[in-house]
Amino acid sequence: MDLSLVKKYAKENNVPIILDEGLALLKKTIETYHVKDALEIGSAIGYSALSMASFGVYVDTIERDPRMYKVAMQNIGTYDTEKRVRLIFADAISYDGIDKTYDLIFIDAAKSKYHVFFDRYKKYLNKGGIIVCDNMNFHNLDRSKVTRRTRQLLEKLDTFKEELQKNKDFETIFYNDGDGMSVSRLL
Ligand SMILES: C[S@@+](CC[C@H](N)C(=O)[O-])C[C@H]1O[C@@H](n2cnc3c(N)ncnc32)[C@H](O)[C@@H]1O
Repeated sequence: MDLSLVKKYAKENNVPIILDEGLALLKKTIETYHVKDALEIGSAIGYSALSMASFGVYVDTIERDPRMYKVAMQNIGTYDTEKRVRLIFADAISYDGIDKTYDLIFIDAAKSKYHVFFDRYKKYLNKGGIIVCDNMNFHNLDRSKVTRRTRQLLEKLDTFKEELQKNKDFETIFYNDGDGMSVSRLL
């Protein structure tokens, strides 16, 4: 599947999508753990969902922004010829329509809510399933040079990382690939 036009659109319209290095790590994780079904929180225009589909995965993906959803719908219509992607228009904070379990959950939505998404969706993981979180380094911003709001966001991410490290139900590895990723395996 050639997604270069989707990537180009993202660049030209400032849509944040997974970096190549992060996608390579996601692909490796999918292969290592023989992932067949994935849930994604944060579709944007469907780039990472379509990428996962191109690795042979069935993907349910949730997006709350109507403009993103519309473009994602078009992209999925164009590229998802094998019908592997199901796009759900909803706010993942309150959505309660999940009707199956997954081998992998990819969290890539509002960074300040990562702990909420993690706690809310972990029950939909299969035994030995994986939760991957993107942007865990959040662009390696210099804390002395950011706004108060961004600093608060970085602090929230720090707290989330500490919680992951302490969580005995999962084994978590942190990677610096892309914008930083955590890979947590349900024990
Ligand atoms: C970084 S982008 C996703 C990029 C996409 N995963 C990719 O790599 O191609 C984050 C997306 O999450 C969406 N989002 C943020 N909070 C959300 C929520 N509570 N529920 C659903 N989508 C959300 C945003 O609207 C945005 O489109």
